[in-house]
Amino acid sequence: MEIISDISTMQQRCLAERRKGRRISFVPTMGYLHQGHLSLLSEGKRRGDLLVLSIFVNPTQFGQGEDLDKYPQDMPRDAQLARDLGVDLLFTPNKQDIYPVGYATYVNVEGLTDNLCGANRPGHFRGVTTVVAKLFNIVQPDVALFGRKDFQQLAVIRRMTCDLNLPVEIVGMPIVREADGLAMSSRNIYLSADQRRQGVALIDAIRLVKKELNQGQSDAATLISLVEGRIGQEPEASIDYVQICHADTLQDMDRVTGDSVLLLAVKVGSTRLIDNHYLCEEV
Ligand code: PAJ
Repeated sequence: MEIISDISTMQQRCLAERRKGRRISFVPTMGYLHQGHLSLLSEGKRRGDLLVLSIFVNPTQFGQGEDLDKYPQDMPRDAQLARDLGVDLLFTPNKQDIYPVGYATYVNVEGLTDNLCGANRPGHFRGVTTVVAKLFNIVQPDVALFGRKDFQQLAVIRRMTCDLNLPVEIVGMPIVREADGLAMSSRNIYLSADQRRQGVALIDAIRLVKKELNQGQSDAATLISLVEGRIGQEPEASIDYVQICHADTLQDMDRVTGDSVLLLAVKVGSTRLIDNHYLCEEV
């Protein structure tokens, strides 16, 4: 595995590979890799000839008072995991090269970013789409893989890719969970043992909704209040949002249909956990 930090070296290297006719798979991350990231890499390996992983803690997607300065990092461990999985190129750019002095260009997807995490974290998706567009221009992938854990992010990136005619296939991958159902996240490391236990309330709430739905309840407000009740049982949990939305438009729905997704963001202590579930699928 080659580790490259320099942007133009990376761009030239990827261009040369493409010219040889090799299909490039790309997994962008902020590092501190876990099984969720590794599932994207395994699928990427299957779908291309050259597997590229980027690790970059992107400052523009963090708001004031968020965890940019303490975001967990362990580059030697990440590099070893990447090597073991068969990553060919690991791209680790520097902040001052991605956003040099005078940097002034941003990509913003309208509409889809108004709701859910977009409403809770102003400017977050502008940072995500800007860095992903830049990474796509550097790596020039044929296929890029993203997790459904960040459901809105995936929808926003699909929209951007379509709207800007970027020649990249976007693949969405299932949520990878811990044995007790907590969605894996680099941020789970922030949780104390007791908070970690409370984090299971998210999947519990999803399962409750699924059960009620199977018994014929399809009223969104009723199902949402079930979630609120379950989360409310945890002493350190506070809800940012619980919504039932259309999977494509992310607009709120009054009644559950085959296109509905339940999305939730819950702070446990100061750690923000997100989860979601396509209501037509089994939990
Ligand atoms: P990061 O949080 O590191 O996640 C990188 C990718 O891994 C994203 O596509 C995310 O959805 C996926 N992922 C995270 N946890 C997962 C899980 N439990 N199961 C399946 N996939 C999971 O998302 C970002 O970084 C950034 O916003 C980024 C896209 C890299 C732009 O900076």
